[in-house]
Order: sequence, then C-alpha cells, then structure tokens
Amino acid sequence: MNSVFEIDNLTISYEIDGVFYDAIKNVSFSIPEGKITGIIGESGCGKSTLGLALLGLLKKGAKLRGGKILFEGRDIFSLSERERIFFRKNKTGYIHQNPFESLNPIVKIKKQLEERCSGDCNFRERVNELFEIVNLKEVDLILEKYPFELSGGQNQRVSIVSALLPSPEVVIADEPTTALDVTVQSMILSHLLKVKEKYGLTLILISHDVSMVSFFTDYVIVLYGGRVVEMGGTDSVMKKPIHPYTVALLNSVIKSGKRPSPIEGEVPSITDGINGCPFHPRCKYAFKRCSEAFPSVGYGEGGDHIFFCHLEKDVLLRPKKSHV
Ligand SMILES: Nc1ncnc2c1ncn2[C@@H]1O[C@H](COP(=O)(O)OP(=O)(O)O)[C@@H](O)[C@H]1O
Ligand code: SF4
Ligand SMILES: [Mg+2]
Repeated sequence: MNSVFEIDNLTISYEIDGVFYDAIKNVSFSIPEGKITGIIGESGCGKSTLGLALLGLLKKGAKLRGGKILFEGRDIFSLSERERIFFRKNKTGYIHQNPFESLNPIVKIKKQLEERCSGDCNFRERVNELFEIVNLKEVDLILEKYPFELSGGQNQRVSIVSALLPSPEVVIADEPTTALDVTVQSMILSHLLKVKEKYGLTLILISHDVSMVSFFTDYVIVLYGGRVVEMGGTDSVMKKPIHPYTVALLNSVIKSGKRPSPIEGEVPSITDGINGCPFHPRCKYAFKRCSEAFPSVGYGEGGDHIFFCHLEKDVLLRPKKSHV
C-alpha cells in the first residue's frame, strides 16, 4: 500500500528555561494513502505536536531535534519557504479542536474561505458542493456572517469546508469534535467520513476518544509519553490490544456491561524526563529493565500490528483477572 507520509525517527522537543525536553521521541511510522489513521492517547501524550509537525509546523519553543517527515518522498522540513506554503495550502487541510483556531472571529466567512481557494479552485462551485456535504444550508447567508454569529457546530462545519476547499490530499483533524455538544459530534464525524469517501482523501484523526477512533479508523497509532507504544490495523489493535497502556486505555472507557477502570497515576510531564518505557511509573508489570531502556519492537497478528514492551506477547495476552 502507498504511503503519503513516512515518519522516520522523529524527535521534537520544547525548550523550557533553556533546557530541551522531548515531546515526541524517536517516532517512526507511515500513513497509508486513502485510509483513515487514528492517533490516540491521553492528553499530553504528544498528539498535537505530532499533528502539527506533519504540516511542517512547530509550535513556539519547539525544535526538530532529529529524524524526518517525508511527504510523497520529500522531506517537508527541507522544503523552501515557498514550497512549504504551497504544501500546506494545497496538499493538506487542518481541522482544529477549536474552530476559532482556524477561523478569524472578526473576518467574514466568505473572505476567509476565498483565501483558501486559489488557482484552479472555482470558489462558488466548491463552496456549494462542500456546504451541501456538511449539511450547511443558506450558503449566501452564512458567507456574509462572522464566525461569532454562528454556533459551535456551524463553525466547525465551516472549518471543514475551509480545510477541504483547495482539494487537499490529506486532512488532519485534531480532536475535531471535543469542543462540541455530544449531539453535534457524531454529525460532524459522519460529514467528515462522507467527504473522505467522496474525495478519496487520506484522513488523520487525532483524538483521546477511543470509541470514536475504533469506529471511524482503518489504522491506529497509540502514543504515550511522546512514543509510539502500539500500532496496526484498528480491528486488530482494538480487539486484541497487546501493550499494557493500550489495554489500560481501552479498559478506562465505558463499555456495555463492563465497569470502566481508570488508569491509575498521571501522564508524565515532558520535564519529568522519564527514561526507558514511558509507561513504567503506571504499569503494573514494570520491572527493572523498563526504567532503563525503551523496548524493541514486538509483533502482533498480521504484518502490521506492532508493539513496544519488554514483555513477550504471550505473557501480555495471557488472561488476567483484572481484565474480566
Ligand atoms: N509550547 C509548549 N511549550 C512547552 N511544552 C509544551 C508546549 N506545547 C506542548 N507542550 C508539552 O508537550 C507535551 C505534548 O503536548 P501535546 O502535543 O499538546 O499533547 P496532546 O495533543 O496529546 O495533548 C505535553 O507534555 C505538553 O505539556
Ligand atoms: S515495557 Fe515494562 S513498563 Fe513498559 S509496558 Fe512493558 S512491562 Fe510495562
Ligand atoms: Mg492536543
């Protein structure tokens, strides 16, 4: 299968009081073309840092400290400024958790959308088509509004339209429904799915919501403490999780007939500078080696399901009382 992104040994750090701390550490994976890949993990695990990096963006204070991100074979951090702007504007779309991060509250929707539509993009045609897909009625009325005059759900749908206007190849949606009411959440996701199907997009769905990722994605990457700890086909990872963190994350959500069990302890801060497996302070299986070295790769069923734990798969998959 073709990949749109190849991430190779990526490390991104934030400078705090003159010291660099890793938010993403030696991360490698690829994003398959035309599929939906989910990136999950609790808050603070590095999801947004990684999502922005895929656009060649680093937040203030962040530094690329190693590795590379190839988009269609080219290293996006080595592109010229002009090429990078073209890549961001035409090849990718980004949907933020908070639509106001992508929409300027004091500029009319029409002007903001026009800025996303250049070159071959026929503004009126694209707007009509996309407004219909995301079920936004009264196109002319909305185009003349300011974002502050619209509801949260309408703004998020406008930001989906904005992300899609230049017909990008990849859309990255970072917690696209977290700021919305539960009733609007599934509607927004089904619009995203429709758009993905219609245009054959590659979609990267970043979320802490395990149920949403299970339902909507083809592949899943589990991040913890800035490291990939498990990844593979969504069915395989969600139905047969191997890594203790993935198991704990799945056990922490409400499932019918099962009482959720929260994960004890907290996500580490990057300034904790945890060595070895980042999950070791919270892992009930942790032993000496876990705090000394990051584990090498282990393999689940099928070629693409992998995990990083010092324990063998057979030991991890053995039925445990606490999981029933
Ligand atoms: N601008 C910043 N300066 C310093 N640390 C940051 C900054 N942004 C994020 N971090 C830290 O980097 C880690 C990863 O953050 P983030 O990528 O936002 O995670 P997530 O999206 O999974 O919540 C967290 O420990 C967070 O506190
Ligand atoms: S490497 Fe050690 S601490 Fe990390 S998940 Fe495996 S057993 Fe737990
Ligand atoms: Mg985030």
